[in-house]
Amino acid sequence: MIKSFASDNWAGVCPEVMRALIDANQGHSPAYGADPHTSEAKQEFKKLFGQKAEVFFVYNGTAANIISLASNSRSFNSIICSAHAHINVDECGAGEKFAGTKLLDLPNTDGKLTTEMILPHVKADRYPHQSVPGIISITQATELGTLYTVSEIEAIADLAHKYNLILHVDGARIANAAVALNCSMKEMITDTGVDILSFGGTKNGMMFGESVVFLKPELAELFELFRKQGMQLASKMRFISAQFTALLKDNVWEKNAKHANEKAQYLGSKLAGIQEIKISQKIETNGIWAIIPKSLAEKMQNTQFFYPWDESKDEYRIMCSFDTTRDEIDQFIDTILS
Ligand SMILES: Cc1ncc(COP(=O)(O)O)c(C=O)c1O
Repeated sequence: MIKSFASDNWAGVCPEVMRALIDANQGHSPAYGADPHTSEAKQEFKKLFGQKAEVFFVYNGTAANIISLASNSRSFNSIICSAHAHINVDECGAGEKFAGTKLLDLPNTDGKLTTEMILPHVKADRYPHQSVPGIISITQATELGTLYTVSEIEAIADLAHKYNLILHVDGARIANAAVALNCSMKEMITDTGVDILSFGGTKNGMMFGESVVFLKPELAELFELFRKQGMQLASKMRFISAQFTALLKDNVWEKNAKHANEKAQYLGSKLAGIQEIKISQKIETNGIWAIIPKSLAEKMQNTQFFYPWDESKDEYRIMCSFDTTRDEIDQFIDTILS
């Protein structure tokens, strides 16, 4: 079997999810989310985030982000985010097109925003000439594999609410974050005051499917309409819901994320021991960022492919998944040393 360190998106589907898809393929079931699988999955989300949580399923992470942001912004609003944010650099301007808002992308070196960085941008001082900040969006784990601590999230939520802003979290890798911080989803998200969470499934072993969790039900009011208009209302929704139940029910999400994170720690420690390689971000979840001389990187890529991150610095991203094995890592390291 050919594997790689390119992305957790390159991995296949974990066995529990694949079984759930086959089990869900029995007979007929009501469409558009009126099926028992969807009710069951929603209950699983309530167990994780609390009874007030309202959950909706979509096909992909871009939709989870943009439809939730669009349904809570007006065209004169702006969304404060990191310059590295997926919504800023990897969603083809979907935020600008579908939410119709300006993104205020703040520079940083580790993917994280701080309250000090955000504070100067929370008010439209030149009202009505300036766009009006409406949402702060942070990513957990960040696009550089780093983590916000629970208290950092809480501080950003407090700042957002002080200025009547909404806090959105892009949680494409929220499972990796929770496991790394050794805290529950409720402690990291509900109790810190996060308003809206895009909850990732695909990178954690699903075939497809992400969800939006509204921690304040009133923010969910228009989501269904935006989702349908945004072409993300799945008619055979049971096949997304059944996958989520399989991930959440017996804590498969934790098992998968823990495995991926541990493998990144293992691989990271091996790479750090190689003189020509310099680890460039803290290894906190399932990704490693490293500066590697081009010729060595090419040799490594020929064994197990991985992507350049910032070619101007010879920086690369190496990702582990729920199915990365220790043997694959050892073989990868052997080829570097040979
Ligand atoms: C931080 C982050 N957010 C969201 C996404 C979701 O993207 P997609 O629309 O490809 O599912 C990704 C995928 O790479 C991501 O890394």
